[in-house]
Amino acid sequence: MNKVKKRIAVFASGSGSNAERFFEYFKDSPVAEVALVCCNNPDAYVLERAKKHEVPSWLFTNQELKEAVPVVQKLKEEAIDFVVLAGFLRLIPAALVAAYPDRIVNIHPALLPKWGGKGMFGSRVHESVVKAGDLETGITIHFVNNQYDEGNIIFQARCPVAPEDGPEEVAQKVHKLEHEHYPRVVAQLLQGRAENSDS
Ligand code: GRF
Repeated sequence: MNKVKKRIAVFASGSGSNAERFFEYFKDSPVAEVALVCCNNPDAYVLERAKKHEVPSWLFTNQELKEAVPVVQKLKEEAIDFVVLAGFLRLIPAALVAAYPDRIVNIHPALLPKWGGKGMFGSRVHESVVKAGDLETGITIHFVNNQYDEGNIIFQARCPVAPEDGPEEVAQKVHKLEHEHYPRVVAQLLQGRAENSDS
């Protein structure tokens, strides 16, 4: 393993409960630290969470993201090694993917390839699961490429959907899985250890 601590940037657009799990998980880790929160929404609660954990944050515009150069520049300036998307709602531009090949991961709140793609985020995913009468759902951690939710899958975990579950109950179960696995799976990736998806 590389002796130097890896520097992670977490991209988030909203509440940031997953981002917060990363702050906690890597607080005293010898493997990595969350060096920067990157956010495209000035009202996002993730900014409060970052402040509370004394993690620097950087606010950028969707135009800057589209241009990619300002974002890549910032990540390079901050010596970022690895990018974690945690509730980040914009497509990552090709130039950013190219700057961090196999170094950008995302979490999707369903078992891809089911219920993925453009526009499939947040409650829409869980509503689809319930509407379809799926008996299980879960999480998918995957590499990011130039298409929404289509990069190679790294890890999946499952949970049952009970007949009485509505989208809100499903969301809670899925969030629990996300918090349990996402930072841990990233830590393993950073240490060059692959793990097979569960069941
Ligand atoms: C998570 O469900 C994640 O799977 C999805 O966006 C949600 C973000 O939740 N990509 P939070 O902001 O981390 O609470």
